[in-house]
Amino acid sequence: MNTTNRKQMDGGGRILIAIVAGARPNFMKVAPIVRALEAVSNRCAYRIVHTGQHYDFEMNEVFFRELGIPEPAVFLGCGGGMHAEQTAKIMMAFEADCVAHRPHLVLVVGDVNSTMAAALVAAKLRIPVAHVEAGLRSGDMTMPEEINRRVTDALSDWLFVTEPAGLENLRREGKPEDRVFHVGHVMVDNLFFQCAKLDEMEASAFASNALKKTLGRYGIVTLHRPSNVESAEALQRMAETLGQIAQELPLIFPVHPRTRVSIERFGISFAAQIHLTTPLSYMEFLNLWRDAALVITDSGGLQEETTALGVPCITVRESTERPITVDEGTNVLAGTRPEKIIEAARQALASGRRVTRRPHLWDGRAAERIVSILADRLFTDATGEVPG
Ligand code: UD1
Repeated sequence: MNTTNRKQMDGGGRILIAIVAGARPNFMKVAPIVRALEAVSNRCAYRIVHTGQHYDFEMNEVFFRELGIPEPAVFLGCGGGMHAEQTAKIMMAFEADCVAHRPHLVLVVGDVNSTMAAALVAAKLRIPVAHVEAGLRSGDMTMPEEINRRVTDALSDWLFVTEPAGLENLRREGKPEDRVFHVGHVMVDNLFFQCAKLDEMEASAFASNALKKTLGRYGIVTLHRPSNVESAEALQRMAETLGQIAQELPLIFPVHPRTRVSIERFGISFAAQIHLTTPLSYMEFLNLWRDAALVITDSGGLQEETTALGVPCITVRESTERPITVDEGTNVLAGTRPEKIIEAARQALASGRRVTRRPHLWDGRAAERIVSILADRLFTDATGEVPG
């Protein structure tokens, strides 16, 4: 038995896991993990550490409330700034938090700056790191998320993978087989959980239902990748492309804060059939996109969520780190050239919803698998006792 670890365990002799959440796409992944940890609370305690990368009410607070995530144990307040500044602020604040609380494990999700910053801190303090959604690779090093994924995986001791491509990537990078686990997708766990809740809710609960009713058939747009929104030319081209699609299919476009800044700075205007909104809460957005005829996006998560529910999706990027959504799901990787995007939209609308195979293990139980692996192995490592 490791006495140091024994001393560090809380009064109930439990493992302490620090769960790091920073940006909007993290929150839907944390929610099911927390639920699964609650079920083994005799063996595991957790602390949610919120880095503050996303701080607006619409990007942050409303998600905690809707997704049923408990109040974080600490807010590090590290939002804004350029990448190095943001990453450095998170690292400094998280290091102090880890030194004060000495978790047995730091669990990070996804590929945002908070993910990488926390993994770096933990690795340097020699605290084991678990990465949920490990192994994804776009091969595009101009994406900040690709850098974050590679660094985080290089430092992680436990790698939880959503699709077979992730297993292959990690194998190629020399990760030991016994540290890599194909468990499915916690974001899909959350999606199914929230869909069941949505089915029980009154239509009047949704502000967007009026627009939904007026439009009848509609598409959804989300855009926030720097490559699509940070130059006037790219954003203008995208606005014109969407304008053409909107002649056939009205579009609803919840605008990310980064994109809002660019729209205002470059003075970009959109066709009248494109309805711009503030960022929407999870439920409000789900209520819209799950009934959409088409989703056009540069988000990573939405490529997967649309595949899980069989909604046609066009990804306006040159690469995807989530190939299973194209191979087995509803995703079409259209690139960023207007004619390609318009053609992909026409085809998707002509063929309607495709019956697709839901990827293996995208069954709503990924978080249970992760927690079961971690609880058993960590508990055994820390106490020498095999859990009964
Ligand atoms: C981040 C993630 C991206 C994820 C996206 C989802 C990285 C590298 N990128 O990108 O992977 O898909 O979140 O939203 O971590 N801002 C606000 N209010 C907020 C949050 C941000 O105004 O609540 C502003 C920031 O001050 C900044 C800009 O939006 O000017 C971008 O925010 P940032 O967190 O740097 O990256 P995202 O584009 O949100």
